Amino acid sequence: MGLIEHIPGTQPVIKPPRHPKAIGVGVVGLHEGRTLLMALATRCGHVYPVAGCDLSGEKIEASRREWPGLFYTNDYDAMLARPDVGIVAIYTPDSEHAGHIIKAFEAGKDVICTKPIVNSLDAARLVLEAGRRTGRKLIVGQSTRFFEPFRRQRAAFERGEFGDVELADAHYIHRMDWYYRKSPWAATDTDWVFLGLSHPLDLLRWYLGSIRSVQAIGSRSKMGREFGVKGRDVYVVNVEAVSGAIGRAMGHYGCHELPRARNCIELMLYGSAGSSLAQYHDMRYIHTTPETDAKESAGGFDPGALGEVVEDYLYAGRQYYFNSEVHGMHYGEFANYADYFGRALIEGAPYLPNLEEGIETLCLMEAVRQSAEARQPVEVGPILQSVGL
Ligand SMILES: NC(=O)c1ccc[n+]([C@@H]2O[C@H](COP(=O)([O-])OP(=O)(O)OC[C@H]3O[C@@H](n4cnc5c(N)ncnc54)[C@H](O)[C@@H]3O)[C@@H](O)[C@H]2O)c1
Repeated sequence: MGLIEHIPGTQPVIKPPRHPKAIGVGVVGLHEGRTLLMALATRCGHVYPVAGCDLSGEKIEASRREWPGLFYTNDYDAMLARPDVGIVAIYTPDSEHAGHIIKAFEAGKDVICTKPIVNSLDAARLVLEAGRRTGRKLIVGQSTRFFEPFRRQRAAFERGEFGDVELADAHYIHRMDWYYRKSPWAATDTDWVFLGLSHPLDLLRWYLGSIRSVQAIGSRSKMGREFGVKGRDVYVVNVEAVSGAIGRAMGHYGCHELPRARNCIELMLYGSAGSSLAQYHDMRYIHTTPETDAKESAGGFDPGALGEVVEDYLYAGRQYYFNSEVHGMHYGEFANYADYFGRALIEGAPYLPNLEEGIETLCLMEAVRQSAEARQPVEVGPILQSVGL
């Protein structure tokens, strides 16, 4: 199949041909997981959908209407028993992830787990132990890394266009009353350091490497209090990496709407040879001209060599990333990480963020939570040791 079937209101996405060793995926949790089913069915060549599981009959029926040919069940064990499921993709509430990951590993499956991989140190210890014992592979679905501007920014970083990153500044800010109405567990069963702040903290860890210490302050917004938020939903965090580079992460999940001046997720990199900004949702990647290009045409003011470049993919990438919704959610990022993981498994290639990196980032989140709680800096090292890293 070259093009996907026409879905009303969308332009066709070019679907890559299915790899002869493509791996079947069973998805548990069919809210965000339904987005993954769409991504697998329409945008991936190394992985394809075979099964869906949810406790809710309504969620199953909604997925079945879209993708009728798959196996659906409300019994996770029944999905795990299927030989055509090579990868289990987990999109259940955060506190369920550990149980689902361990069962999948023990059933011989590899795992895609949405962020956060888990939301407690006890769960981190158990998942890490199960991964080591079974030898199964896991990728954490850190969607922001796989969104177009962030991919471009990373490629430029790896080409050395910014030199050494000396300061990274990341935030994710989003009004979440709609989320509490849909998923009340987000208010009562976890903390926004594991939910929303997992995005900017992962970005800092990705660029700065292992983090030595954090200094965080946090509070609870008026909206958060109204919805019974248990932890904190407003955070400002400073981090120092083992390398000596520093970074800042910020999150606010009870705010009023954002003015258009800022995007809900942004990553600003200040490097020794250049700077850049990646944005979600507006799909812009803005960067200084690489020094190498500037040197070639040195002499006088040359705007082509010394300027900044604004790359804007909103309309070119809208169908792939947003499924042609005005600012849709995650179709392209989910497809990108699922296909990347499938390809890595088929080729035996390395991939990130893997189980160890996911657990390390979880320890960073926990250090932030502890620092906000204690109102003092917290070292990450002892937390890593406590989970077995
Ligand atoms: N950017 C991203 O990658 C991103 C965005 C949103 C949510 N998430 C993550 O995705 C996960 C799901 O979030 P959501 O917004 O879809 O939550 P949700 O509450 O809307 O949906 C969770 C689904 O899991 C089902 N479920 C719960 N327990 C189950 C079980 N034991 N077996 C089978 N099904 C079960 C529920 O019936 C529900 O349909 C969370 O971990 C969240 O943090 C990631």
